[in-house]
Amino acid sequence: MKLILGVAGGIAAYKAAELARLLMQEGHEVQVVMTPAAEEFVRPLTFAALTGRKVLTNLFAIESAIEHISVAQEHELLVIAPATADLIARMAHGLADDFLTTLYLAFTGPVVLAPAMNVNMWQHPATRANLDTLRGRGHRIVEPDSGYLACGMTGPGRLADPEIIAEAIAREVHQRRDLEGETLLITAGPTQEPLDPVRYISNRSSGKMGYALAEAAVARGARVILISGPVHLPPPPGVEIINVRTAIEMREQVFAHLGPADIVIKAAAVADFHLSKVPDQKVKKTAARISMELDPTPDILAELGRKKGDRLLIGFAAETQNLQQEARRKLESKNCDMVVGNLVGVSDSGFESDQNEVILVLRTGESIPLPRAPKREIADHIFDHVLKLRLALHAANGH
Ligand code: PMT
Repeated sequence: MKLILGVAGGIAAYKAAELARLLMQEGHEVQVVMTPAAEEFVRPLTFAALTGRKVLTNLFAIESAIEHISVAQEHELLVIAPATADLIARMAHGLADDFLTTLYLAFTGPVVLAPAMNVNMWQHPATRANLDTLRGRGHRIVEPDSGYLACGMTGPGRLADPEIIAEAIAREVHQRRDLEGETLLITAGPTQEPLDPVRYISNRSSGKMGYALAEAAVARGARVILISGPVHLPPPPGVEIINVRTAIEMREQVFAHLGPADIVIKAAAVADFHLSKVPDQKVKKTAARISMELDPTPDILAELGRKKGDRLLIGFAAETQNLQQEARRKLESKNCDMVVGNLVGVSDSGFESDQNEVILVLRTGESIPLPRAPKREIADHIFDHVLKLRLALHAANGH
């Protein structure tokens, strides 16, 4: 494949040379583009020697005024490693003041970014917001590693290993369109159950897991209907988004859109209890203690289990203990084909985190642990197993 490797100016720029070598070894044609700052860290000659091609650098020292356009049109994938906080910000805002950023705006193919920066810069709300914008455009982000950073601090920010970046590129290159023709109904995020006009009960779900599933399904060619509780994420491009607030609204929308769905995935963290009669006015602080009687919300997954027909039904189970047993119990009692068991309450996994670590419990009796990985990657593994499961169930039913 014809790839562009964009290199931005950070201490990790030297690792891009190893990435260029790996990509050449895998048989890709690699065109390196460096920002002026990158040239301060590594000389273009290093990349020219590794790729056998002239490195593109200065926007004003090239042969044609439209070279960034032709380079964008001639290549199929854009990889940027390392992607610095500054470059990520310029990309998010559409600034185009050097060869790499002008090329980015002219490029219409898939984009893979491997960020690297100081831990505080990585965690800064501005960087988080810029990355959300880029994720929202469908770009694949290869999360940085945690560890000792060049600035002397420890934490996330170190460029992922070139082998890991090369694997992410390979996944993008071989991105299967194996969900083409399928309609997926996915729920995500928490629900909010009002206690009065200003208060509600909810939970820590950020929606990241469900949105990652929706993004992966669109990338694999599916039509995706995403029913989302209140979250702070932009909907992945290409999904049909339906926003809801309460469990009752979520149930209504799930059954209103069930018709065309071939696969239903319930990643939402639906509140189990609500106040069935919500007061019209704000509850006053008149007593030292207050008690409220909560009723169960409708169990949407259990109802889907009764009404699913030929559809594949995938539930989630968020548990703090006995993960596998609880996931299997939910699979049986709610007539699911797969339950994704998610250990919650441990750090950097489950709720809110960008990473997850789950166990897939299947109707066929198998249990498959998926080690910790970014939620987008976990989503792809879930779909790999959903498709395998469908083949196994068809074979077992003699189709
Ligand atoms: O959103 P993130 O921050 O990325 O976090 C991801 C996650 C932890 C929320 C997600 O991975 C997850 O585990 N989602 C399910 C959370 C949950 O509600 O689990 P549960 O064990 O309480 O429910 C079991 C299943 O029943 C779930 O599929 C749930 O959607 C469904 N359910 C629950 C209650 C209810 N009234 N109706 C339902 O359909």
